[in-house]
Amino acid sequence: MSTAEQAVSKRNAGHRAAEEVADGMVVGLGTGSTVFFAMERLGKRIAEDGLSIAGVPTSYQAAIRARRYGIPLTSLDEHPELDIAIDGADQVDPALRLIKGRGAALLREKCVCDAARRAVIVVDGTKMVETLDAPVPVEVLPFAVEAVSRRLAALGADPVLREGVKKDGPVVTDNGNFIVDCSFGTIADPGRLETAIASIPGALECGLFSAYTEKITVIVGEEKGCSVVS
Ligand code: 5RP
Repeated sequence: MSTAEQAVSKRNAGHRAAEEVADGMVVGLGTGSTVFFAMERLGKRIAEDGLSIAGVPTSYQAAIRARRYGIPLTSLDEHPELDIAIDGADQVDPALRLIKGRGAALLREKCVCDAARRAVIVVDGTKMVETLDAPVPVEVLPFAVEAVSRRLAALGADPVLREGVKKDGPVVTDNGNFIVDCSFGTIADPGRLETAIASIPGALECGLFSAYTEKITVIVGEEKGCSVVS
């Protein structure tokens, strides 16, 4: 898929996801290029159709985008239960288990997904895989980064501290933590791996989302339209 085709697919998925949002809803707003298209369409519906919603952003980046599109914001404290969350993903398997976190927002994204009654995941077709095998991002307490990396290596990972584009220091998340990207190769049992990572003190969250398959709907953008999987 060319970059241009991918961009069109992402836009189609994002715009379709925005149609899942109804008047009065509180909406979890994920982070990433695909979900930003959903925000764009939500902004249009607010401006042109009088749609009334409030959004809970999963990152500063998402908050800035939402404001730009005119989406009123609220917080998870104000709304610990959300009607719907819209978010992207880096890989999706046939059971609708996900790898997320290329945008380093996975910790808040998982909080928001957990709080939402429904999660609508927007992707282009390149993200759909038979078996999850992308590196799993892990948000790590900086104090414990070496100890956590050793524990992740013991689980079979090849842990790499994520650095910024200039390679002059670690990426720091909105929560003040580091990201360690962990290649495990093919992940035979995502749920078991997620539980194992969660048991490491200092590993604050990982990008495997294996517990939400019941509430997830995936919208796969295509060049002309989209398909919906749930
Ligand atoms: C951010 C994420 C993103 O949703 C994921 O990386 C997909 O991003 P994009 O829609 O730009 O491909 O998990 O933490």
